[in-house]
Amino acid sequence: MATERTYIMVKPDGVERGLVGEIVKRFENKGYQMLALQMIQPTKALLEEHYTDLKEKPFFPGLIKYMLAGPVVGMVWIGKDIVKVGRRLLGETNPLASNPGTIRGDFGIDVGRNICHGSDSPANAEREISLWFPNGVVHWNRAHVQNLIY
Ligand code: PPS
Repeated sequence: MATERTYIMVKPDGVERGLVGEIVKRFENKGYQMLALQMIQPTKALLEEHYTDLKEKPFFPGLIKYMLAGPVVGMVWIGKDIVKVGRRLLGETNPLASNPGTIRGDFGIDVGRNICHGSDSPANAEREISLWFPNGVVHWNRAHVQNLIY
């Protein structure tokens, strides 16, 4: 089981509905560690690069329009098997197919407003982290503060 990083993004509908804290809480409760968080109004160019693998899909223009509708909150998280397990916390792409207990299963209905994004492979996670955080993110070990003696 590898310790990996992943890129999790609260989409414009999730931000508008005030679900950022809920999503952060679920990853923190699971035991994962946050390395970065930013609110950003993405440009069309950034979104087209992020979703470059989907350029030929019929839903691509609608997806870009939806993602341009407002700011997003992007995060980097680290932990064991986090790419796969993080996507399990998010639920299925289609919220109606998502089990209760997952973020999309608890809060969503439409695939075109499915609240959050999670990288689909460790390689894509690193690509997305470089794209959204071009200046890099912190490296820290959270045990450090607990073990600090002063
Ligand atoms: S595919 O077709 O299997 O490659 O697509 P999938 O992996 O299920 O989803 C990739 C991303 O496209 C979004 N998506 C859609 N957006 C809008 N409308 C429709 N119909 C639609 N279908 C898929 C889906 O939410 C995925 O986005 P992210 O941000 O990665 O979750």
